[in-house]
Amino acid sequence: MTLQIGTHTLENRLFVAPMAGVTDRPFRMLCRELGAGYAVSEMVTSRKELWGTLKTSRRANHDGEPGPIAVQIAGTDAAMMAEATVYNIERGAQIIDINMGCPAKKVCNKWAGSALMRDEPLALEIVQAVVDAAQPYNVPVTLKMRTGWSEDSRNAVKLARDFESAGVQMLTVHGRTREQGYKGHAEYDTIAAVKAAVRVPVVANGDITSPEKARDVLAATGADAVMVGRAAQGRPWIFREIAHFLETGTHRAPPLVAEVRRLLLDHLVEHYALYGDFSGVRTARKHIGWYVRTLPDGEAFRGRMNTIEDCAEQLRAVGDYFDGLADRMDRMPEHQAAEELSGEEEAACAVD
Ligand SMILES: Cc1cc2nc3c(=O)[nH]c(=O)nc-3n(C[C@H](O)[C@H](O)[C@H](O)COP(=O)(O)O)c2cc1C
Repeated sequence: MTLQIGTHTLENRLFVAPMAGVTDRPFRMLCRELGAGYAVSEMVTSRKELWGTLKTSRRANHDGEPGPIAVQIAGTDAAMMAEATVYNIERGAQIIDINMGCPAKKVCNKWAGSALMRDEPLALEIVQAVVDAAQPYNVPVTLKMRTGWSEDSRNAVKLARDFESAGVQMLTVHGRTREQGYKGHAEYDTIAAVKAAVRVPVVANGDITSPEKARDVLAATGADAVMVGRAAQGRPWIFREIAHFLETGTHRAPPLVAEVRRLLLDHLVEHYALYGDFSGVRTARKHIGWYVRTLPDGEAFRGRMNTIEDCAEQLRAVGDYFDGLADRMDRMPEHQAAEELSGEEEAACAVD
């Protein structure tokens, strides 16, 4: 089933979550190839002085990516967010997503990301400024938030109504409060309440780790789509597994080890091309670690990766590891358990 955002028709209702330091272009394209219908970029700062940095330019790289190109922006100042909107649209963004979901660091003495939910007037001012800036280009604005600031302040429903009135065309809700960080479990009642309160599409996010969980969250919330973040790390084929299950009610077999070998090697080559050899070999380690974490000798292999500083050698080692694995098993193991998800990597979720 497709979903419409403005003039854009999304291929299906399975989205990759924006994850700073993870969902760069190679990873987004891999997820799209493996069944995700939509991928939002890593967030880009609204701080102009950082737009020229290597980090921002890598984040703004969409070469060859299938559309619609959705760029997430973060910041605390309405005028700067409006400027960032125009800047990104002029560089190819077809959808602008506002980050009110990430427990981001402090910027300019104010809190960005989900912390904005505590300051409703400012949140609304930012949303209105972004919508107004995008409107002349006919570019839809979407927004990602949490259920609220804290247990006592679950204001997602109120904000969702306000944001819809301001012109936001899709809302994603991560079922945790800002205060929770990544602790506890995501709850879906607030997401269901948001869905019931607005007419724009609502996307449910948080702890979706399996096809069954995706089905259950869709049923419990009535949401129009689900968004998967951490469970796709090292397992980008989760999207086609969910798609198959939602369509047929049966499980698709896990991928062949030989297929994953090819996917990972191709992913690494794309990764080095984006980051260059020096950074590429180092930043690739986390992806490799995620792929192998539950595999035989995965931990030891992960340790070995930290000693390799050359791309060709890293590729060779990964290829050899998967060749050895293919001698022991045909297919990858069934999906990982939910409790293995951790938000520790969320430190990367900074706006600068
Ligand atoms: C490493 C990491 C980076 C993240 N970066 C962002 C970000 O840039 N923007 C954002 O809105 N959310 C960000 N998030 C939050 C995710 O989009 C998502 O809401 C959260 O991980 C819950 O979904 P999950 O349980 O499927 O992982 C990040 C999460 C992680 C783990």
